[in-house]
Amino acid sequence: MKVYLDNAATTALSKEVLESMMPYMTEIYGNPSSTHSFGRASKSGIEHARKTISQYLKCKPSEIIFTSSGTEANNTAIKCSVRDLGIKNIISSRIEHHCVLHTVEEMEKAGIHIHYVNLTPAGLFDLEHLEQLLKSCEGKTLVSVMHANNELGNIMDIEAIGSLCKQHNALFHTDTVQTIAHMPFDLSNSNIDFLSASAHKFHGPKGVGFLYIKHQSNIASFIHGGSQERSMRAGTENVSGIVGLGKALQLAYDHLESDAVHMTKIKNYFIEKLQESIPDIEFNTNLNSSLFTVLNVSLPKEYNNEMTLFNLDIKGIACSAGSACSSGSNKGSHVLQAINHSPERKAIRFSFSKYTTTGEIDYTIEKLKELALAESI
Ligand SMILES: Cc1ncc(COP(=O)(O)O)c(C=O)c1O
Repeated sequence: MKVYLDNAATTALSKEVLESMMPYMTEIYGNPSSTHSFGRASKSGIEHARKTISQYLKCKPSEIIFTSSGTEANNTAIKCSVRDLGIKNIISSRIEHHCVLHTVEEMEKAGIHIHYVNLTPAGLFDLEHLEQLLKSCEGKTLVSVMHANNELGNIMDIEAIGSLCKQHNALFHTDTVQTIAHMPFDLSNSNIDFLSASAHKFHGPKGVGFLYIKHQSNIASFIHGGSQERSMRAGTENVSGIVGLGKALQLAYDHLESDAVHMTKIKNYFIEKLQESIPDIEFNTNLNSSLFTVLNVSLPKEYNNEMTLFNLDIKGIACSAGSACSSGSNKGSHVLQAINHSPERKAIRFSFSKYTTTGEIDYTIEKLKELALAESI
């Protein structure tokens, strides 16, 4: 049996998404910047996707620019705010994805003051500390914090964060790569200035994402060249990818509630079975405020073995120790360090999708039990 429980790293491309993309990889191949009919057909695919996104997120189509990834969207928001909007301070957190964390570190080298908001014992942003930081910052400030953490699944109160930003006249960028397409957004009524997303996290293709830029936020292009994306992002567009992104978002929002119910059931079932089978299990995810897609657990000592993930993989189960992007590094997870996770215990992130079944959870539980027996011998 093959069980894929690494959906926070990436998701399977849905068949309907692939079907929507195919014509743009075969017969509709014009350059979207060309003014002839071939070009216009490609352009129309892009604009349809932009309109779809703006309708679901309740913003203007012109506030969406397509990027090559969530990483590029995050880099654009942070670097261009610093370059174009006179940002002197950035408030971020120690549990951001590396594409935010490392970008913020680069900004520090360029002379920007960086502050990190504390976490509460529950693994959420400490809003009182955020307010203190906002009060103490001199000069223009950008707050760049994630909506949900990719290793823990913990969801942050971006509405409250947005209100604090507004109160203190700070700009607000949020990395919603793990939450877009899993919950409703209303950008017409929010204090979010920049928001980043990535198609491959919601059954869309890899290598395409978008950045929402509130219309008053006058940043210029991060990538220079042609005048694509209303001169906001040069480079010939990934037409089929953008079309796939739009389709994936539409499918997600068409089934938002039923998919959420399904994944919540899966996550709760897994929690229950884990507690029954491995009584000493601990949950690193905040079970009261987290996404239904992610469950990060600490296995008891008998699993304290670097081979656990490998052994699960041999049994056909794909899960991870944390973020896929950090898997090449031997430093361990910066997120687990930030929540003071004991290095004595093995942390594993299981992450679900609308395709995950209870049968797959039963199989995973069975294999985890077998592993504990094997490792304790
Ligand atoms: C929270 C978060 N931000 C950003 C990214 C980067 O997105 P992309 O893979 O599209 O570059 C990821 C991907 O793992 C993520 O989980």
